[in-house]
Amino acid sequence: MDAHYELLAAVDGDIERLMADHLEKRPDWYAHDLIRWEEGRNFVDEPWDESQCTVSPEVREALVLNLLTEDNLPFYHYAIASRAPEGSAIARWTRRWTAEEGQHAIVIRDYLMISRNCDPVKLEDDRVATVTKGWDSPWDDPLDIFVYTSAQELATRVSHRNTGIKADDEVAYEIMKRVAADENYHYIFYKGVISAMLKLDPSACIQSMRKVYENFNMPGTVVPRFRRRAAMAARAEIYDLRIHAEKIIAPVLREWKIDQLEGLTPEADEDREALLAMPGRLVERAEKLERRAASKIGA
Ligand SMILES: [Fe+2]
Ligand SMILES: [Fe+2]
Repeated sequence: MDAHYELLAAVDGDIERLMADHLEKRPDWYAHDLIRWEEGRNFVDEPWDESQCTVSPEVREALVLNLLTEDNLPFYHYAIASRAPEGSAIARWTRRWTAEEGQHAIVIRDYLMISRNCDPVKLEDDRVATVTKGWDSPWDDPLDIFVYTSAQELATRVSHRNTGIKADDEVAYEIMKRVAADENYHYIFYKGVISAMLKLDPSACIQSMRKVYENFNMPGTVVPRFRRRAAMAARAEIYDLRIHAEKIIAPVLREWKIDQLEGLTPEADEDREALLAMPGRLVERAEKLERRAASKIGA
């Protein structure tokens, strides 16, 4: 199948409108307003020690995983910018979106450094390892990329928000709430792009959704010790398979009302059936994992 560049060009007017809505609704915010700079201490005179940490190990790992994932922004920028035709609304959006995403790493890093909730040497070494590894978009076609990004933005919203809640720390709560609000604005933009594409080519969109959501991976998989960190985030109920099914995949599919789409090709109709069954299947898998974890604790 040819890549859907024509479809992307056909929704350029919608992208322009979605970007105007975004700029009007998203409030400007500043990392320096949220950080307690007066609590900062010199690492040379007072080296970092784990006893200085104030939040739980699970939340610390989640904060670091979220931060390192945000640090890999150059590769997310490239994935979208390299598919955005010069002069298009999507090219302008990509630059603005990149600027907003950049602040997420700034504020989380500021918080972790000031509050001493992570080892600063390890954090920098892991950042260098993450960016050196880079990230390749698993998808080439712009349609697949926006289908992926829609779910990805919602996933980061949920993960950042839960991290802030579980931190049990006023500043962490506020910064993660602010970052999660940004991710929600981004989610609204990307799901709007797909809504516009659904009107023009519902079959192509449905086929892309099945392919992308059946093979969905967080971009943070390139972060060192990802599996261990993700397992800790799951234990803290920040992000796990059940959350993925119930708070990401199910709402995204509901949002696009895929059960009501008409005029699908027979292949796309089959893909829709598979998509509608997906949240339930994921929850079944999550229950299996939960039972296994519970029996390990009980053993
Ligand atoms: Fe972000
Ligand atoms: Fe985002």
